[in-house]
Amino acid sequence: MHKPVLVVTTQFLDEIEARIDRDYDVRRNPYERPFTCDELIEASSGADALFVTPFDQLDSDFFKRVPASVKVVATYSVGFDHIDVQAAANRKIAIAYTPGINADATADIAMLLMLGASRRAFEGQEMVRKGTWTLSSQMLLGWQLTGKVLGIFGMGRVGRAVAQRARGFGMAIHYSNSTRLPAALEKDAVFHSSPSNLLRVSEFLTLHAPETPETHHFINSKTIDLLPQGAILINTGRGGLVVDEDLIAALKSGRVAAAGLDVFEGEPKLHPGYLALKNTFLLPHLGSATVETRLAMGMLALDNIDAVLDGKPAPSLVPKEPVVA
Ligand code: DGY
Repeated sequence: MHKPVLVVTTQFLDEIEARIDRDYDVRRNPYERPFTCDELIEASSGADALFVTPFDQLDSDFFKRVPASVKVVATYSVGFDHIDVQAAANRKIAIAYTPGINADATADIAMLLMLGASRRAFEGQEMVRKGTWTLSSQMLLGWQLTGKVLGIFGMGRVGRAVAQRARGFGMAIHYSNSTRLPAALEKDAVFHSSPSNLLRVSEFLTLHAPETPETHHFINSKTIDLLPQGAILINTGRGGLVVDEDLIAALKSGRVAAAGLDVFEGEPKLHPGYLALKNTFLLPHLGSATVETRLAMGMLALDNIDAVLDGKPAPSLVPKEPVVA
């Protein structure tokens, strides 16, 4: 039987690869790096579907040139800021993503960053590993989560999963979102219709909004000035939400006491200023990186591709309006 042709841009978990081998005539990326735009276009000749990741930049030029045979692109991510959705719609190509599934894993990483940044975990690790640990009662005093206001910018599924965890640490939850949540989801959280008002109260601020033209560089010198002195910033959303130079200046001056960052503009590169600072706790975009979550993401991506190619309703196509991740 004729199998649909699927272009796969990276290596996935064995179970996902086995399903790909079983159900598709697969074309794999032979390089140990993402395809270039030209290579991906060439690989897509006569293909029905593409299975991509946030490392693949699918811009308007890509969608102008992609072969007409391609009916669906599924991304292995909840974020789709790497895809020009409008340009895809112009070519009548469906874009599928993986919302919801990553919420618990990403919320866990947000808590890890919150604790790592506030309890000076990088400096502690360095001391233990370099043998510079001395017996001082003033050593590496950090800041406690208990009783602090946690501001959540973007109260989608990840934001709400962070709120659930942070309540257990005794934090007071405030949030800003494009729309106020219904009471059952909001619980005891305090809604701020103005993001500026959220910043004014956020002793800890955690970013969970998608990167859009409206949220790009949301954290900059002006918005940092609204935060309480010595606030702690956490970002597991997208690096492009932050102006790196402005945050680095605030971390140097102590205006922002510490930052926990899992995402960076221009990944896998990051601004070298972060590496020179001790009050940063940095991870290499591990938000959804658990076996359970990544397996579920892969299976959902393939469910989407199958549904579109079979002319059935797909479980999660990118909506027309931007969503909160
Ligand atoms: C996502 O799913 O968007 C995560 O950030 C992994 O890229």
